Amino acid sequence: MARLRNTFLAIGLMALGGTVVSPGGSGGSGDAVELPAPELGVNVPLQRALQERRSVRSYTDRSLSLAEVGQLLWAAQGVTDSRSGFRSAPSAGATFPLEVYLVAGGVDELAPGLYRYLPDEHALLPAADSDLRAELFNVGLRQEPLRAAPAVLVISAVHSRTAHRYGARAERYIAMEAGHASQNIYLQAAALGLGTVAIGAFDDAGVARVLNLPGNEQPLYLMPVGAR
Ligand SMILES: Cc1cc2nc3c(=O)[nH]c(=O)nc-3n(C[C@H](O)[C@H](O)[C@H](O)COP(=O)(O)O)c2cc1C
Repeated sequence: MARLRNTFLAIGLMALGGTVVSPGGSGGSGDAVELPAPELGVNVPLQRALQERRSVRSYTDRSLSLAEVGQLLWAAQGVTDSRSGFRSAPSAGATFPLEVYLVAGGVDELAPGLYRYLPDEHALLPAADSDLRAELFNVGLRQEPLRAAPAVLVISAVHSRTAHRYGARAERYIAMEAGHASQNIYLQAAALGLGTVAIGAFDDAGVARVLNLPGNEQPLYLMPVGAR
């Protein structure tokens, strides 16, 4: 059944123009969608992105491109040094507790559904094949951006990755890391002319259920994104 579903997803994605690649041992079980390489040469001064960063809660009807969501995911947790595997955001002891998901509803070349970001491959691993935004809205205290945005980035954490090394201190380290990743998404969105808001108020168990998160994973932030 799972294989059939993955095949269905792969066919659906190919039909939509996405490139299907092997996930390469990152713990997923489906076929991954390769993202366009991050664009490093766009000339938006950091100061301008900082100045224009704002929590944006309403968006135009425009869909997002695969390149835009790829850029946002790369900003959140992309690998920026292939030799060390270190990422765009700092991580306590390089323990990398964060996972980033994309809840897609209006993303060009991507079937609506849930995808897990694979930092090493800069790719998306399909995890569910239906539009989850309305359900996310319900468990997100009915905050309108969650169903109005074409996509929602979700930052979650696997506590044990950091707790193995840092014990009780991991809790604060993980919250700090979510803040780093979230700020990167804010700044990248501002640089792309997009808007986002960091949503921390939601029903934890409800979000975990809607996204079918593994039992050891805790959702920390929901970040709807759309055109300003
Ligand atoms: C930890 C945290 C949780 C937040 N949760 C929400 C939220 O649930 N819903 C929301 O609309 N904004 C949320 N925000 C965004 C703040 O409301 C926003 O940052 C604040 O109003 C300042 O506006 P600015 O981000 O445009 O500077 C949150 C921000 C932080 C840092």
